[in-house]
Amino acid sequence: MSQLTEPERKSVAVIGLGYVGSCVAATLADRGAVVVGIDTDGALVDALNQSCCRFQEQELEELLARAVGSGRLSCTTDYAAVAGVDVVLLIVGTPVRDDGSLDDRQLRAACTTLAKHLREGQLVVLKSTVPLGSTRSLVRPLLEESGLTAGEDFQLAFSPERLAEGTALAELRTLPVVAGGIDAASTKAAEGFWRQALGVEVLAMSTLEAAECVKLADNWWIDLNIALGNELAKFCALFDVDVLEVIKAANTVPKGTGSVNILLPSVGVGGSCLTKDPWMVWRSARDRDLDIRTAAVGREVNARMPGYTAQLIFDELAKLGKKPESARIAVLGLAFKNNTGDLRATPTKGAVDALIEAGAAVRVHDPLADDTSVKEMFGIRPSNSVAEAVRDADCVAILAHHRAFEAIDYGSLPVAKSCVVLDGRAYFPAEKIESLRALGFVYRGIGR
Ligand SMILES: NC(=O)c1ccc[n+]([C@@H]2O[C@H](COP(=O)([O-])OP(=O)(O)OC[C@H]3O[C@@H](n4cnc5c(N)ncnc54)[C@H](O)[C@@H]3O)[C@@H](O)[C@H]2O)c1
Repeated sequence: MSQLTEPERKSVAVIGLGYVGSCVAATLADRGAVVVGIDTDGALVDALNQSCCRFQEQELEELLARAVGSGRLSCTTDYAAVAGVDVVLLIVGTPVRDDGSLDDRQLRAACTTLAKHLREGQLVVLKSTVPLGSTRSLVRPLLEESGLTAGEDFQLAFSPERLAEGTALAELRTLPVVAGGIDAASTKAAEGFWRQALGVEVLAMSTLEAAECVKLADNWWIDLNIALGNELAKFCALFDVDVLEVIKAANTVPKGTGSVNILLPSVGVGGSCLTKDPWMVWRSARDRDLDIRTAAVGREVNARMPGYTAQLIFDELAKLGKKPESARIAVLGLAFKNNTGDLRATPTKGAVDALIEAGAAVRVHDPLADDTSVKEMFGIRPSNSVAEAVRDADCVAILAHHRAFEAIDYGSLPVAKSCVVLDGRAYFPAEKIESLRALGFVYRGIGR
């Protein structure tokens, strides 16, 4: 991969070193930029300076070790470090409240502190996902408390972060970056920065708000499309049709600039983005007297999937004459999707809660999730191994199919007779399902 050449080399401050910030900071440093990471969480900063990361992201620890080892990445809680950089990236958390409105506390605090250290000539780029207008009406005035004017003394732009956990580092090096500035010079500066820093295509937008909208449009589409996949799965189940077979064939029709692209059904949608961004859309529209239906419907459909998944388990157990209250159920994989340990807004929580509520004895195991967080969230001490979790189980529910689970030898699992395998996100191929049945398992998937 080409590195930045000496005259182009930029120094960057990354404010907010969570999932996104740590990946961005490590990637920029690896590409040759001098990066200072800033976060209010002292323990996180200390860990990152030791190249340790509390997030499970493929290759991130190796990248951090290279970046810290080369001296190009250092982290601190002290915003004074901002004074020495050319570019400031803001990547703090932007959750929504129950009513869909932005909880702007992290963003406000970060901007207020940044304003004390901002200096003339710097480029500030907001990457956190926000409702349209936030960069202009929230971030700009807070930064201008510095006495400097956006567009005149410093440049201000918005570039959404569109990476997905689990594939974050590869996507950072390849996904086109969207950039919209408060004026043409800010857009140009952001465009030039991203092109040099990441070597990727840059899509320059005509306004800040257009750039903000791109991110919301992406996640609105994704959530709604998963909702379609989920309802298609329920529909297929009525007719004993395999939804994956249908989706594969349905997606071959050319449409727009690609093809029909129905996304895969599962136990549900989780994580910090897809569960909130459609509500950001819905709420911003409602504040302007527009009732956006699809964003809310997508959310509601997907939110029902954990309960639906639990019901599938009860249905299969009932066919075997087993009642939920006397069933032993092993849940493998608790994270919100495959190959991450992230438990934020995980749909597995709703499924596990429904199983427990019905009286089942539930064991849980996730090799990627933090044991203490699992215990806190699910109220169950996690089993140390697959074998421990599935002992005498009437059902093995695979709710996140991490790579480690691909090696499971189902024939050797110490489960009960006629054990149900509930496939919540493994998407087992037909041959695998046949082999499970040959071993005496009962297979049930979402829409399969
Ligand atoms: N997680 C994802 O996959 C993903 C993907 C794309 C976009 N996003 C968006 O990126 C943004 C960041 O998401 P994340 O998942 O990294 O969040 P996160 O909660 O993991 O990280 C936020 C970080 O900001 C720090 N922080 C809070 N207030 C601060 C302050 N005043 N000064 C400095 N640091 C402060 C926190 O300590 C935390 O480490 C959000 O807007 C999110 O919607 C997330």
